[in-house]
Amino acid sequence: MTVLVTGATGMFGGLITSRLQGDGVDVLAVTRSPERAASLTTGSVTGVVADMDDVGTLQEAISRADRIFLLSPMHPDLGARECAVIEMARSAGVSQIVKLYGAVEHEGDPLDTQHHMAIDALKQSGLSWCLVSPQTVMDSHLLAQAESIREEHRMYACAGDGRMGIVSADNCAEVASHVLQSPVDDYQGRNLQITGPEAVTFAEMASQLTEALGVTIEYIDMSEDEFGKLAVEAGFPAEDLELQILCHFRQIRNGKAMLVTDTFEKLIGRPPASVKQWASSHRDLLLKEIP
Ligand SMILES: NC(=O)c1ccc[n+]([C@@H]2O[C@H](COP(=O)([O-])OP(=O)(O)OC[C@H]3O[C@@H](n4cnc5c(N)ncnc54)[C@H](OP(=O)(O)O)[C@@H]3O)[C@@H](O)[C@H]2O)c1
Repeated sequence: MTVLVTGATGMFGGLITSRLQGDGVDVLAVTRSPERAASLTTGSVTGVVADMDDVGTLQEAISRADRIFLLSPMHPDLGARECAVIEMARSAGVSQIVKLYGAVEHEGDPLDTQHHMAIDALKQSGLSWCLVSPQTVMDSHLLAQAESIREEHRMYACAGDGRMGIVSADNCAEVASHVLQSPVDDYQGRNLQITGPEAVTFAEMASQLTEALGVTIEYIDMSEDEFGKLAVEAGFPAEDLELQILCHFRQIRNGKAMLVTDTFEKLIGRPPASVKQWASSHRDLLLKEIP
């Protein structure tokens, strides 16, 4: 079987590519960069140079794929990019698309609207499809804070006391890889909402980091304006702030990220990782090296 993975150089796509490769599945790993395609190519993985903004560049690879893992970055063109891939997959007779969505309630905000364009296209395509929907993700929230955790023993955000069923990216990759290797009918039309074992606040995450790392980590809560300014001062592009950062923290603060499911445990047969477990296995990235 051959699986085409979009976003293969990113957080989820990279983990899914590794998991499929570990299971001996042939992977066509998509990137826009010839250099990255060359470095992805090893064993059962072949790097493919293509751009979802120019979907014709994907045609040859899609014609060789049995299934597709579909992901694109948080961008105003997410819907158009994913719809173009779905249409090409339909013409090519691909047998399944597994699309990455999300489990935070975004309530029709601009990011959710983009995802729903693609979900509607899947529903109308006649293809077999399944959504893998991570809650808030440890890797994105905690690795984004790695420098301040390492240097200041602090995390900064504007999440208030909002709870999150936060999950590790690799647990989500494990589910996607499982679905992509199961009979297509097993998960047809399902939305698999993948969460961690409990819903925690940022302050509780700081306590779990403290236990895992053996140093006191503090959470500094800020207003949305203050946090936005801090992110831009640190070099985050102002035009990406709303779609990539602020809309997520707003929903966490408003209690829209609290969902906890047992989907991971039911599918994989063990509990998902806690923040403490995740932090223990990422110690090297979160602690300053002792010279
Ligand atoms: N992070 C979270 O907490 C979270 C939670 C739930 C859902 N999500 C969803 O996850 C998705 C983002 O996943 P991620 O964090 O893994 O993304 P990511 O790390 O930002 O990676 C995005 C990938 O997309 C590729 N890419 C960008 N533009 C492209 C284009 N025009 N054509 C083809 N490839 C393109 C990039 O590869 P190259 O530069 O190599 O081409 C990159 O590998 C979004 O849809 C988001 O809504 C995220």
